[in-house]
Amino acid sequence: MADTSDDTRSTFPAGFLWGCATAAYQIEGSPLADGAGVSNWHRFAHTPGMVHAGDTGDVACDHYNRWREDVALMRSLGMRGYRFSINWSRVLPEGRGRVNPEGLAFYDRLVDALLENGIQPMATLFHWDLPAALDDRGGWLNPDIAGWFAEYARVVFRKLDDRVGLWATLNEPWVVTDGGYLHGVLAPGHGSRYEPPIAAHHLLRAHGAAVQAYRAEGRNNIGIVVNIEPKYPASQNPEDLAATARADAYMNRQFLDPVFLGRYPGEMREVFGNAWPEWPAEDMLLIRQAIDFVGINYYTRSVTRHDARRWPVHGSGVPQKHATRTETGWEVYPQGLTDVLKWVSARYGQPPIYVTENGAAFYDPPSAIEGRVEDPLRVAYLREHLRAAHAALRQGVDLRGYFLWSLLDNFEWALGYAKRFGIVHVDYATQQRTPKDSARFYAEVIATQGAALGVNA
Ligand code: BGC
Repeated sequence: MADTSDDTRSTFPAGFLWGCATAAYQIEGSPLADGAGVSNWHRFAHTPGMVHAGDTGDVACDHYNRWREDVALMRSLGMRGYRFSINWSRVLPEGRGRVNPEGLAFYDRLVDALLENGIQPMATLFHWDLPAALDDRGGWLNPDIAGWFAEYARVVFRKLDDRVGLWATLNEPWVVTDGGYLHGVLAPGHGSRYEPPIAAHHLLRAHGAAVQAYRAEGRNNIGIVVNIEPKYPASQNPEDLAATARADAYMNRQFLDPVFLGRYPGEMREVFGNAWPEWPAEDMLLIRQAIDFVGINYYTRSVTRHDARRWPVHGSGVPQKHATRTETGWEVYPQGLTDVLKWVSARYGQPPIYVTENGAAFYDPPSAIEGRVEDPLRVAYLREHLRAAHAALRQGVDLRGYFLWSLLDNFEWALGYAKRFGIVHVDYATQQRTPKDSARFYAEVIATQGAALGVNA
């Protein structure tokens, strides 16, 4: 259990894993280097009109070539952990079958460098970039994908598990289904009412199959990463309460209930109507594998009201007056982080939890001035959210670590390079990295084990 003592010099428990997070397609660049296959995100970004300003991940932060420098940067900021993702298409260019040793070697070198610098790796197997060859076979709609994913996972475990102590199977499956299969704003760009629950189910089966493959290798530290956005009712009116429950089922419980409880939330049929399929009981057994931790990505909340026009949940968010909003339009609501951590802990039997993403895009000056980038809004966001995480710890949540999103400004999916989430500024013309004030702030929080937040002052 978490240490909830009142020691002002050491407000977070010893061993708390302070880190930051990134994802392959968002930072690496060189997507086709050294024999890598094409990913669906490479294809999507190269489809005219899909990404802001025609941006692509072709160069991104050039991390594929600058990884040493980036690891040194993390070390200079005192990071103890680093969450990165593996591009499946580098490892298995066709998604299955032939292994590409050069692709695997990239992650092998990265892991060694992290460990040499005292940084614990957390590797995510799927952070949205799927081999295009698999997408051509139906991607997440094809039931065979659970086996393909397990095959890929096995190759990676065998290579890296002797040094990687924390594994995440999937990143935010809800976003993949909602953005990729319902609204079409993310790869693979489908807009279907029927596909999202099918994609969700096969994502979950793939997760289960990868956990099984992991256990077969005798390992013991694997989890899943989900985005949780707490839903608060706009009023106590029964219609708003029902819409809030549906929104919560769709976004938050659709993934964790099957993983922990072996069933989908009762509201799913109401949400999807005749688009909701029945699934065999053995699928639910596959999905319900014991996992070792849950990763929670938290950015914002939603105050929900009934809205008959909005499919599938028939509910929509009510903008809050006087709220601070980030550059992506998300309300800044730190209390929501305490709430989701307590909720996940209580609902799912107090599992170990990591905050695997939390951060904000704010307007930053386009270039560093005399080596400095002032980002006071991001500093305030981080301070408040870290205090909120600490509040959850003090209330008994088994919170093991916090990974800030993100180390570097990077390719923000459909928003291209227009939104900056980094605590390190990237000048995309020169690839110059400049730690922002928020990086210095976070470094101080880490160095003081949280005391710099003044949590207990
Ligand atoms: C994703 C990241 C993304 C971040 C900010 C999360 O949904 O996992 O890849 O950059 O949020 O939008």
